Amino acid sequence: MNNVVVTGFMGTGKTAVGEAVAELLRRPFVDMDLEIEKRAQKPIPRIFAEDGEEAFRALESDLCHELSSQEGLVIATGGGALVNPDNRQAMIAGGNVVCLDCGPDEILRRLTAEGDGDGIAERPLLQVDDPAAEIERLLAARGEAYSAIPWQVDTTGLSVEEVAARVERIASFLTLPVRHPGGQYLVHVGHGALELVGGAGRAAGVPEGGRVAIVSNPVVAPLYVERVEKSLAAAALQPFACSMPDGEEHKTLATVAGLYEQFLAGDLDRSGTVLSLGGGVTGDVAGFAAASFMRGVRLVQVPTTLLAMVDASVGGKTGVDLPQGKNLAGAFKQPALVLVDPAVLQTLPADEIRCGLAEMIKHGVIGAPDLFAELERGAGDLAMLSGAHGDGVQAAARIASALRVKIDIVEEDPFEQGRRAVLNLGHTVGHGLERLSDFSLRHGEAVSIGMVAAALVAVEMGRAEPSFGDRLRTVLAAWGLPVEILSYRMDQIWEAMAHDKKRQGRGLRWVLPRAVGEVEIAEDVLPDTVGSVLQHLGAKGER
Ligand SMILES: NC(=O)c1ccc[n+]([C@@H]2O[C@H](COP(=O)([O-])OP(=O)(O)OC[C@H]3O[C@@H](n4cnc5c(N)ncnc54)[C@H](O)[C@@H]3O)[C@@H](O)[C@H]2O)c1
Repeated sequence: MNNVVVTGFMGTGKTAVGEAVAELLRRPFVDMDLEIEKRAQKPIPRIFAEDGEEAFRALESDLCHELSSQEGLVIATGGGALVNPDNRQAMIAGGNVVCLDCGPDEILRRLTAEGDGDGIAERPLLQVDDPAAEIERLLAARGEAYSAIPWQVDTTGLSVEEVAARVERIASFLTLPVRHPGGQYLVHVGHGALELVGGAGRAAGVPEGGRVAIVSNPVVAPLYVERVEKSLAAAALQPFACSMPDGEEHKTLATVAGLYEQFLAGDLDRSGTVLSLGGGVTGDVAGFAAASFMRGVRLVQVPTTLLAMVDASVGGKTGVDLPQGKNLAGAFKQPALVLVDPAVLQTLPADEIRCGLAEMIKHGVIGAPDLFAELERGAGDLAMLSGAHGDGVQAAARIASALRVKIDIVEEDPFEQGRRAVLNLGHTVGHGLERLSDFSLRHGEAVSIGMVAAALVAVEMGRAEPSFGDRLRTVLAAWGLPVEILSYRMDQIWEAMAHDKKRQGRGLRWVLPRAVGEVEIAEDVLPDTVGSVLQHLGAKGER
C-alpha cells in the first residue's frame, strides 16, 4: 500500500490535514518534524540555533528515505523537506504526494493565529524583520520544487475536513510508470483526477506560463473542456481550446492540418504542449499533430473513452487514416503524461463502453487473469467501470490492471517489432469483419468475434481446452458483445482477411489464446481449421 505524503509551505495545514487523513484511512500517522525533534531530543528552533540548518536538513533527508521505504503510512513533511529533489523523488516513488497550497496573505494570517497568537515565533525561518516579505521570498524560491509534485490542493477557504477529503481521494490514485527508449512517463489513474490535470502536467514538465492546446471535439468539449481549462489555468498555464470534428472519418491529414492552423492562431510554440481530451480518434490525431508540429511538441493524453484509457493513450502510436486504409500515416510519439479519470465514462454511451470492454477482456486474456475473473463476475454492470455507483476506487483499479498488461508489452517492444503483436489477439478475423462491414461493425465488436474465433482455432488445434473457448464466449456475450458471424459468407471473410496489412509471409498470423493469461503467436494454422471455425461461428457457404 502506497504512503500518502502531505507537504507544502508552512501554515498550509500539513499536520492537521495529515492527522485527519490518517484517521479517515485508519493508517499510522508520522509528523516528520515531531519525529526529528524526538530523535534529536530537542525542538527544531534549537536544532537550527545549535547545529545549523544544514544539520536539520540532513536529519530530514535521512528520515525521508527511511519513511519512503515503508508502506501504508500517512506522512506530514516539514515545509522544506521536499524542496530537495532526492527527498522528493524518494517520496514520489513510494507514495501519493500531495502539496497543499494557499496565498501568502492567508499563510501569514494562519501563522500569526497559531499557538498563543504568535506562531511566527516558533518558525526559525521567519525570525527576520519582515516575515511577510520572507514568506513571499521563500514561496518564490520553492515554487519550482513544489510544482514538481503531481497533486496540488488549494486550501484557501477550506476547512481541515474538506482538505482531508480531497487528499483521501488522491490517496486512492494509482500511478503506473511507463519506460521507453527516450525515458519514462507516468500514467495516473484516479476517480476525479481530471480536475487536477494542471498540477500533474506541471509535475510532468509543462513549464510555468506554457501554452497548452486542448484538442477535443464537439461531443467531448461541452462536457469536459471547461474543467480542464480551469485546472490548467490554476496551475499557471495558458490553455486554449482547439476543435476537430468527431468520428473516425475525420482521422485524416486534413484534420491534422486544421489543428496546425489552430495551434498557430493560439501562439503555440516549440515549448508548447498539446493536450488530447477525447477518445482514440482524438488521441491519434492530436498525437500525430503534436509529433509533427514544429518538429514535435510535448503531448499529454487525457483519454475519455474506455478504449483510449486501456489501450490507445499508452504506447506512443499516433496517426491518421489514408483513403487506402486505416492508420497508414503516423509516428511514434511518447506522451509526457497520461491522466485517466474513469468518472468521465459516466457520459460515454453504453455501446462505446462495450467496445472498450472488448479490449479490457482481451488484456485480461493476455495477461491479467484476476481482471478477467472480475469481468466475469460483474458481467453487464457498466457502472463498475465508471465508478457510477460510488466504487470509483475499484473502477480505477480495474482500468489500471488492464493498462498494466499493455504497459508491460510496450515496454518490452516499444516499436512493435516482436511481442507487441500479441495485442492483435482477435484481429485476424476481427479486422477482416470490420472491413467487410465497411466499418459499421465497431472495432471492439469485431475484436470480440475475432477473439472467439482465435480461441476456437486454439481449441481445434488442441492448444486450448474446449472449456476455455466457452468461457471466453460467455463473458463476451454477457457484456453484450457479439460472438457470432451472422451476415457474411466464407469467401468474403477469407478475402477480407487476406487484405489485412498485418498479414505476414504466406500464411495468416494468429494470436492464439491457450488459457486465461497465456497467448502464443502461430503461423501454422491450417485453412481447414479456420474454415471449420468460421462455419461454427455462423459464416455461410464455402471458402
Ligand atoms: N494509438 C493506438 O495505440 C490505438 C490503439 C487502439 C485504437 N486506436 C484508435 O482509436 C480509435 C478508436 O477510439 P475510440 O473507440 O475511443 O473512438 P472515438 O475516439 O471515436 O470515441 C467514440 C465516441 O465517443 C465520444 N466520446 C469520447 N469520450 C466521451 C465521453 N467521455 N462522453 C461522451 N462521449 C464521448 C467521441 O466523441 C466519439 O463520438 C480508432 O481510430 C483506433 O484506430 C489507437
